[in-house]
Amino acid sequence: MTAAPIISRLDSSADHDAAIDQLSDVLIDCVDGGASVSFMWPLPRDHARAFWRGVLQSAAAGERIVLVSRDADGLIDGTVQVVLAQPDNQPHRGDIAKMLVHRRSRKRGLGAALMTAAEEAAALAGKDLLVLDTVTGGDAERLYGRLGWQRVGEIPGYALWPRGGRCGTTLYFKTVGEGAID
Ligand SMILES: CC(C)(COP(=O)(O)OP(=O)(O)OC[C@H]1O[C@@H](n2cnc3c(N)ncnc32)[C@H](O)[C@@H]1OP(=O)(O)O)[C@@H](O)C(=O)NCCC(=O)NCCS
Repeated sequence: MTAAPIISRLDSSADHDAAIDQLSDVLIDCVDGGASVSFMWPLPRDHARAFWRGVLQSAAAGERIVLVSRDADGLIDGTVQVVLAQPDNQPHRGDIAKMLVHRRSRKRGLGAALMTAAEEAAALAGKDLLVLDTVTGGDAERLYGRLGWQRVGEIPGYALWPRGGRCGTTLYFKTVGEGAID
């Protein structure tokens, strides 16, 4: 039997240099594998590191939650974020962003575990409406559908695949926690 993945929140006491390196490995692997996640291929390591440095600064400022999973060697192999900072009139909303699982750890339930943990963390932070977008027709769409996310619709040609050519994006939302949408 496979052990349930352990998901933890990356906090300010974490070894940031190691975390930035390992998160960069995950991001670069996803882009190498053809995922449309804001970056073009090939993704230079400096660019990936600068991205994660900004993410961790934002987390330290309380603007977002960064969750990670680790493999048997303690290396980060998956991550997801809850973006807490929202406009003044949307304090109840959170965005789910950068759900990434290294190819070496896929298809073992890590993506589902990361998303469930993100939803719980968002609810604990007082959010009751979560929103995300993902590339149309990608692996993530099946995952989100299984986890009860509501599909809103598709914007054709929204972004580029990492090696070029347009791809659509599909929007999803989910209500979580005790709160109800008024
Ligand atoms: C989308 C993504 C996060 C999913 O991660 P994952 O860890 O593979 O997710 P899961 O393991 O929970 O589910 C993936 C599949 O494995 C299957 N699975 C889960 N546990 C399994 C097990 N023990 N044995 C066999 N299959 C299993 C699931 O049923 C699911 O099947 P499906 O693809 O046919 O729907 C990952 O593919 C990824 O990082 N993609 C690139 C980045 C990306 O596109 N991110 C989304 C941005 S919005």
